[in-house]
Amino acid sequence: MASPADLERVGRASLTELGDIRIDDVLSFIDRGIENMPSYMDLYRRWESQQWAVSDIDFTLDRQDWIDASEGDRKATLWSHRLFFNGEERVTATLAPFVWASPTPEIEIFLSTQMVDEARHTAFFQRWWHEVVGTEAKDLTSLLKEIRPETNEGYNILFYDKLPALAQRLASNPKDFDAFVEGVTLYHIVVEATIALTGQRFELESMREQGLTDRGFYRGFTAVARDESRHVSFGIKVLQEAVREDAARYAPLIQQTLIESLPLISGTLDPPDPAYVTDYGHTESEIIEFAMESLNKRLRAIGINLAA
Ligand SMILES: [Fe+2]
Ligand SMILES: [Fe+2]
Repeated sequence: MASPADLERVGRASLTELGDIRIDDVLSFIDRGIENMPSYMDLYRRWESQQWAVSDIDFTLDRQDWIDASEGDRKATLWSHRLFFNGEERVTATLAPFVWASPTPEIEIFLSTQMVDEARHTAFFQRWWHEVVGTEAKDLTSLLKEIRPETNEGYNILFYDKLPALAQRLASNPKDFDAFVEGVTLYHIVVEATIALTGQRFELESMREQGLTDRGFYRGFTAVARDESRHVSFGIKVLQEAVREDAARYAPLIQQTLIESLPLISGTLDPPDPAYVTDYGHTESEIIEFAMESLNKRLRAIGINLAA
């Protein structure tokens, strides 16, 4: 666990300084929040002080790495970045109904900042693709079509079925607080806290082990993870408050959503070729274990467990 001084440093780090930051220290923000939950406006202020710009990133070294990379390295990176790029676009596309359905103005303000973040994350991958991998795509629509991941069933159900369906429910009836609770469970806890932050953690740790922390991707992706840590803290807070208000109603709703999502979590994190993970000194079971451990920590903070 990072010290308060370390956390302060992570919180204030500029894009360049993020090269010296470890992903586990970024994730510590969520854990600290669990002990002493920030308010929605605290999270808003954190967003104000943690701005970064995709256009400030320098991908020169990343481009050279790409040219020198082995076929295996390129395949593994493309698999992971396709999921992230497509996933960031999917969560950008589905968040607006959450803003509309916000039960309070403070929540509405925070979620508006998150919409900008998700758009920025999509733009980050767009730039990385153009400058590092290279593409003939003329616009984002054709680039997204080009990179559409060859995904497993779990990913498709999550991003093309469940998430848009929940967004549609919220758009049809913004006063449906049950749908808001289910939506935050799926969006903030399943997609962001469990799947995205796990993938980010292992990729950033691999880069650090290879001495690549001065790369544009390392810095930008760490900034993405810091944004995600705010989103996850927000999701925990919403669900914690719902459970405190009416545990009999909301705890089973959250549990049911999670139980239905469990196979989709392992499905999404499962690489088509085990080498995509083992070549970097990790195992698939280690990754799933980390994801489940993160999920359980978030659930304890919310005040529920999966077995109940
Ligand atoms: Fe994101
Ligand atoms: Fe996010």
